[in-house]
Amino acid sequence: MTNDSDTLIRVEDVRTHFFLDEGVVKAVDGVSFDLARGATLGVVGESGCGKSVLARTIIRIVPRPGRTIDGAIWYHRPSEGGGERPIDLASLEADGAEIRDIRGGEITMIFQEPMVSFSPVHTIGDQIVEAVTLHRNATREEARAIAVDTLRRVGIPNAESRIDEYPFRLSGGMRQRAMIAMALSSNPTLLMADEPTTALDVTTQAQILELMADLQEEFGMAMMLISHNLGVVAQTTERIIVMYLGKVVESADVRTLFRDPKHPYTQELLKSVPKLRRRRQTERLAAIYGSVPSPYERPAGCPFHPRCPQFMAGECDVIEPTLKAVSEGHSVSCLLYSEETDS
Ligand SMILES: Nc1ncnc2c1ncn2[C@@H]1O[C@H](COP(=O)(O)OP(=O)(O)OP(=O)(O)O)[C@@H](O)[C@H]1O
Ligand SMILES: [Mg+2]
Repeated sequence: MTNDSDTLIRVEDVRTHFFLDEGVVKAVDGVSFDLARGATLGVVGESGCGKSVLARTIIRIVPRPGRTIDGAIWYHRPSEGGGERPIDLASLEADGAEIRDIRGGEITMIFQEPMVSFSPVHTIGDQIVEAVTLHRNATREEARAIAVDTLRRVGIPNAESRIDEYPFRLSGGMRQRAMIAMALSSNPTLLMADEPTTALDVTTQAQILELMADLQEEFGMAMMLISHNLGVVAQTTERIIVMYLGKVVESADVRTLFRDPKHPYTQELLKSVPKLRRRRQTERLAAIYGSVPSPYERPAGCPFHPRCPQFMAGECDVIEPTLKAVSEGHSVSCLLYSEETDS
């Protein structure tokens, strides 16, 4: 546990597994990271690496047959009289009063599946008002005023009348803005956005990312942005963790990660990020060799070794690397670097 007054969330060796008839899926398998108050963190990796399950683990909404079986999630909860009180979210009753108070209020999430965030049968206004009255000690009138104001701030024109629309009546971009408004309206300490722009066209995607960066600064909340697209998180966040098969394989600030990526997986992911000044428009983006293995058949040793261009036989398929610091604030889990740091 930490006493750093700056820390908002400290995740320690968290494991969330799905216990299926076919076997155990280790969706999140020993993940640790820190998130400071007001800081931004990007979480990247290919489909199935555990990004969404990690976010769900933090707010304790992992669906059955999934369970968080290990680890701690220290949330430095602001207390009413000022100051803070660290509580381990992983140890709370998943449906108890405390986590329900935090979830949707202090820690909010924009879901990958849009219709999980919004119910189709209520207007967006009713849904935001509901969240605000529940978490902000406001009357319905006050909550409605907050809702209109937040909708306006996320760039929804005619917010006073749009507030009474049903979600399906909004365009994809406007619905995404409304979801951001809902996630912001409770004035959270942490907003987790899971692939918030994937369903949008490129222009709208850029606008939404810019909006999120502006709002993060304005509201001063911490933000965790999840995407399979390294380019998207690099634009919007300061630090990045790269995940592969439920584990963090590299963690660094954005500049370091782009200039000096250490893990071969990160290097491959970077090759698939579109460059602004690509020599020929027709030049194809590289795809990473091979595909993510079945979750039931985790390779022995380093889980990336069957796809790794720098595979060392007899080592990478035998020894499982752990996350180690290669420089301050830069960690990598790869046997190529294990000697430098072993002492
Ligand atoms: N409800 C569930 N039941 C069983 N397995 C699940 C469930 N949800 C996720 N998983 C498994 O957990 C692993 C991690 O899934 P997760 O959804 O976190 O991936 P992701 O990184 O968010 O991928 P994507 O980029 O496609 O959203 C996958 O192997 C997935 O099949
Ligand atoms: Mg996901």
